[in-house]
Amino acid sequence: MGLMITQNNRTELLREIKDEVIALKDSPLCQERIKNGVFPVIGEGDHCAKIIFIGEAPGKNEAATGRPFCGAAGKILDKLLASAGIDRKDVYITNIVKDRPPLNRDPFPDEIRAYAPFLDRQIDIIKPQVIATLGRFSMDYIMRKFGLDASITNISKIHGKIFDIKTSYGDVKIIPLYHPAVAVYNGNMKNELQKDFQILKNFK
Ligand code: URA
Repeated sequence: MGLMITQNNRTELLREIKDEVIALKDSPLCQERIKNGVFPVIGEGDHCAKIIFIGEAPGKNEAATGRPFCGAAGKILDKLLASAGIDRKDVYITNIVKDRPPLNRDPFPDEIRAYAPFLDRQIDIIKPQVIATLGRFSMDYIMRKFGLDASITNISKIHGKIFDIKTSYGDVKIIPLYHPAVAVYNGNMKNELQKDFQILKNFK
């Protein structure tokens, strides 16, 4: 740690985060990871991306490979990105929690607290212009982090809305989106998600 963030050293700084998460011994979920011989999922994509997607936590496929959104929800995310003409390699995809919760249960507040500082650093390093949250956990965390507490309500009311905020590196748009997993068995939700994703066309 301690390197200044420049245009050129983002990859190095992101690698430091990976090393630190791998080295975690007593975070709430890392013992599970070690016991099961699986991987943390740090994030993937363009280190200078304009858009960052933030999901919840790795599932089984993600923990087995170390890659975000590579299972059923990932297939839906890929289709949604394609529907908006966005190439997955041009965005950055991560999660708020970097290790898989057992049986894919919802992350606990102390787990979110333990991993959120890594997400904060990823945002500071990548400096995205758009932060698209996937699901209510990352929506809640990101909206609170950027002082939008008063606008937090049920995701069904604010999905697809754009919130303008100021960060230390400039103006940013926060766009809460449903989690792609909601569309695995629900075509209506898939349509809603697809509609919302079209907003992202303006920012790629
Ligand atoms: N769900 C998430 O929230 N993140 C992943 O990486 C995969 C599924």
